[in-house]
Amino acid sequence: MSHGRFSSPLGAALTGFFDLFRAAPLKHRYTPDIRFEGKRVLITGATSGLGYAVAEEVARRGGSVTLACRSGIPQTGEAIRKKTGNAHVEMVRCDLADLVSIHVTVNTLAASGSKLDVVVFNAAVTLPRSRRTSSGQDEMFLVNYLANVILACLLIERGCLSPKARLIFISSDSHRGASAVDWNEFGRYEEYGVSKAISNYSYFKLLMNTMATELDRRLKARGSTLTSNLICPGPVNSNIIKEAPPLLRAILRGVFTLIFKSPPKAAEPVVYLAGSPDFEGRSNVYLHMFAEKPMDEKVYDPEEGQRLWEASIDLWKSFDPRAVSF
Ligand SMILES: NC(=O)c1ccc[n+]([C@@H]2O[C@H](COP(=O)([O-])OP(=O)(O)OC[C@H]3O[C@@H](n4cnc5c(N)ncnc54)[C@H](OP(=O)(O)O)[C@@H]3O)[C@@H](O)[C@H]2O)c1
Repeated sequence: MSHGRFSSPLGAALTGFFDLFRAAPLKHRYTPDIRFEGKRVLITGATSGLGYAVAEEVARRGGSVTLACRSGIPQTGEAIRKKTGNAHVEMVRCDLADLVSIHVTVNTLAASGSKLDVVVFNAAVTLPRSRRTSSGQDEMFLVNYLANVILACLLIERGCLSPKARLIFISSDSHRGASAVDWNEFGRYEEYGVSKAISNYSYFKLLMNTMATELDRRLKARGSTLTSNLICPGPVNSNIIKEAPPLLRAILRGVFTLIFKSPPKAAEPVVYLAGSPDFEGRSNVYLHMFAEKPMDEKVYDPEEGQRLWEASIDLWKSFDPRAVSF
């Protein structure tokens, strides 16, 4: 059976606390001259937490921002326009747990005619128990992992990206220490409770990192100039715990408020990765906040990467006739 790094949220929170004391060797490279004028940036899940803060900072730095969200329409975009004075902030409705919604989002983006220069795959959920989506998958598996594969493939295949677009996957250093892929359970819906949900969170991040590494291989094999990079923002005082059971949520809210970083602080290395010339032409970089480091070694196994990619596309095809392979 697969397992993640933690099965207790308090263990995860404690690790987040120690993250706050890590060296940040690239922090001095995050400067005001990183600007986004003339660039279009898509961010999934930008109603709160990290995604909102990244959207606001990119807008402040002159970018044209598209927020792909399932809620908060239109007030999230309005708030960012008002705070930053940047009129080029728009919202598209996108529920990553709903396949039809993902297709509608990509159709809208493709029809707009303007290409995306950066896509931040940010949205994720932590649920207190398994929940089945209308297409039959576990919601955390779909939103936190498979929807990112689907969205990336559709954006590439429908020509929504500029030639040097940066694909940025928001990961977590908790992927380190998750088990290898369990092929018997891959994509299968199973009932589970809160500790397996916490465990799955970091396991799905391991899947994401392995997938993004394989995407990088595939892009290079095609001679593409698109890049695929990953980042863990460190501990963020966000809404990620909003569906936790009430007592646990109250405890975690206290820990998050006292110890974790504010979303604008946590967004800094993400904005750096999205806009800095330091990453021009670089792909499969992993940042843990402001430090570049290798991911868990399992992520780099090319056979596992290929197998995961193919299994993900096959799974997608099994419930979506409009699936495309890449
Ligand atoms: N918080 C941390 O300590 C931490 C640490 C490492 C990595 N991260 C990563 O950072 C990213 C952002 O999380 P966060 O901490 O900022 O949490 P957050 O405040 O809960 O933000 C999550 C965002 O995802 C959206 N979302 C959830 N389900 C969705 C769906 N089905 N379709 C579309 N959007 C959906 C939420 O929208 P709604 O408002 O509609 O729910 C929200 O905008 C995640 O990838 C998370 O894994 C967080």
